Amino acid sequence: MPETPTTDLLDWYDRHARRLPWRVPPGSDATPDPYRVWLSEVMLQQTTVAAVKGYYERFTARWPTVEALAAAPDAEVMAEWAGLGYYARARNLLACARTVAARGGFPRTEAGLLALPGVGPYTAAAVAAIAFGERAAVVDGNIERVMARVFDIATPLPAARAEIRERTDALTPADRPGDYAQAVMDLGSTICTPRSPACGICPWREPCLARARGVQAERPVKPPR
Ligand code: ADE
Repeated sequence: MPETPTTDLLDWYDRHARRLPWRVPPGSDATPDPYRVWLSEVMLQQTTVAAVKGYYERFTARWPTVEALAAAPDAEVMAEWAGLGYYARARNLLACARTVAARGGFPRTEAGLLALPGVGPYTAAAVAAIAFGERAAVVDGNIERVMARVFDIATPLPAARAEIRERTDALTPADRPGDYAQAVMDLGSTICTPRSPACGICPWREPCLARARGVQAERPVKPPR
């Protein structure tokens, strides 16, 4: 089993983090705004970073706070969402904004966030880690692929998810859990890509078991068909 290479990854993130409009850059003293973190994570579900950027900028320019979004007419929010797809997300977004505004702000724990309308396990963990610094285990598709490779998980998806979650939980640091999650996301989208991963420049090339065994192209193992 690899050692816990969390520090190597955070060092890499300090140097290579993608500058995205919803992020507080590593090393900055700024505190992430939970509204912006939540909005970006909802938009990023099933939609690429490139497609989300413009929508995120327009939403936050028009509705800079969760209270402003909560007060917006449904039709205006739906019109601004048009093109992002998955319209149930936009309806849930508004329901969630109204609940949060009515209760006076976002809950500050993963469990509290999970109780909000339309907030699932991924979003609750991501907002808890990134906005509130809770040591929540964040797992998305990119993170799944990275973990399946680093630990050479030969179990096919979706059965592999239990081990992936345990591995992610064990690696997530108490300090900087949000940067850590976003570092694994960046690794998955820029280096540990589905095809032709750039193992030669990967900060996890040393501990990666799939690379050592030459099976990185075969991880994660797809569901049997
Ligand atoms: N995809 C989902 N959440 C993300 C984030 N915070 N940064 C980059 N890509 C993401």
